[in-house]
Amino acid sequence: MIRALITGIAGQDGWYLGSLLRSKGYNVVGMVRERGVALASKRPDFPEQPHFDRLCYGELADAGSVRNAIGKVRPDEIYHLGAQSSVVASFSAPEETADINAMGTLRLLEAIRHHRLDCKFFNASSSEIFGKVQEVPQTETTPFCPRSPYGVSKTFALQMTRMYREIHGLFACNGILFNHESPLRPDSFVTKKITNAAVAIAEGTQQTVYLGNLNAVRDWGYAGDYVQVMWRMMQHDRGDDYVIATGRMTTVREFAAAAFNAVGISLDWSGQGVEEQGIDANGIVRVAVSPEFFRPAEVDATVGDASKAHTVLGWQPTVDLDQLVQMMVAEALRA
Ligand code: NAP
Ligand code: GDD
Repeated sequence: MIRALITGIAGQDGWYLGSLLRSKGYNVVGMVRERGVALASKRPDFPEQPHFDRLCYGELADAGSVRNAIGKVRPDEIYHLGAQSSVVASFSAPEETADINAMGTLRLLEAIRHHRLDCKFFNASSSEIFGKVQEVPQTETTPFCPRSPYGVSKTFALQMTRMYREIHGLFACNGILFNHESPLRPDSFVTKKITNAAVAIAEGTQQTVYLGNLNAVRDWGYAGDYVQVMWRMMQHDRGDDYVIATGRMTTVREFAAAAFNAVGISLDWSGQGVEEQGIDANGIVRVAVSPEFFRPAEVDATVGDASKAHTVLGWQPTVDLDQLVQMMVAEALRA
């Protein structure tokens, strides 16, 4: 039986990946810090099977605990998903973000070396490494230009992972993941905030949702598809780096329109910038802009070209944006 260690098991991707690996007969050990335990054990309520066999303690900000976890579990495959994953929070907590995301990844890599472990390593990298994009769409060869502490931390982690592959011969992969969502997305991310609000507005418990930059563009996919390709990378004959994306650009405004449509509310847009509003058929403002949600810096035309993953790994996304919106709205209606 293959033993996998998943850092960040209590997060969105941890749930989908743990469930996938268990369905493939893996023994899944989830690494959690204290805070994550409650969330990890709550997740089995989400329809389907428990997503791990057992949990172990590991704090990415602490080298000793990471080394202990690796030494005790001695996994065959490590899927490193644990991170301070909020871009917006990284502007107010840059040092913590660097410690967890950049140094945390290095601590894991060093622990593998320390224990002379013969294992494979997957690192969850991010499209935020491209930041002020140097070309559209972005591929594995697009130059890095991160614009947030989070993006910088993920750039460090990607380069370190590459270095351990090239210098120390570790089977190591970077998944350069573009945004991927699901009903398990935390409420602070824009897709979940919008789908929750659309449902609350349709049910009459909320009047208006306040958002930041409606012109921001993202390449949104489905988390269930993205964990499939993480596993595929680790089954390939050598470790490598892959862009994982749908190739479709959508603005926050378009996502909001789709979510409101899904609950039977059609929006008309008027005004510009902070004055812009999404208004329903009764003339009620359902979407408004609040500068509170603007960022010190925004990333540009984020859209990925996943041709390499299509060709080398045979991966294709199975859920398109409309299906994703439906799925998130259905879950919000159920909750
Ligand atoms: P998520 O829901 O925020 O989950 C992250 C997990 O990391 C949480 O379970 C959290 O545990 C854990 N964690 C945070 N700090 C930790 C620490 N100091 N020590 C140990 N564990 C810690 O993130 P996700 O959406 O599943 O994303 C998974 C990975 O993919 C992350 O590395 C993220 O940066 C990356 N990524 C995600 C996307 C996306 O669109 N979802 C796109 C690109 C890259 P607690 O519960 O204790 O807080
Ligand atoms: N969160 C949030 N809240 N974002 C808003 C809002 C709002 O009210 N209004 C507009 N936005 C815009 C943000 O400015 C950003 O351009 C876009 O919506 C997406 O924001 P988030 O959903 O917070 O995600 P993110 O793209 O910053 O980060 C996610 O994707 C990255 C990959 O590109 C996270 O999952 C990261 O961990 C991941 O690496």
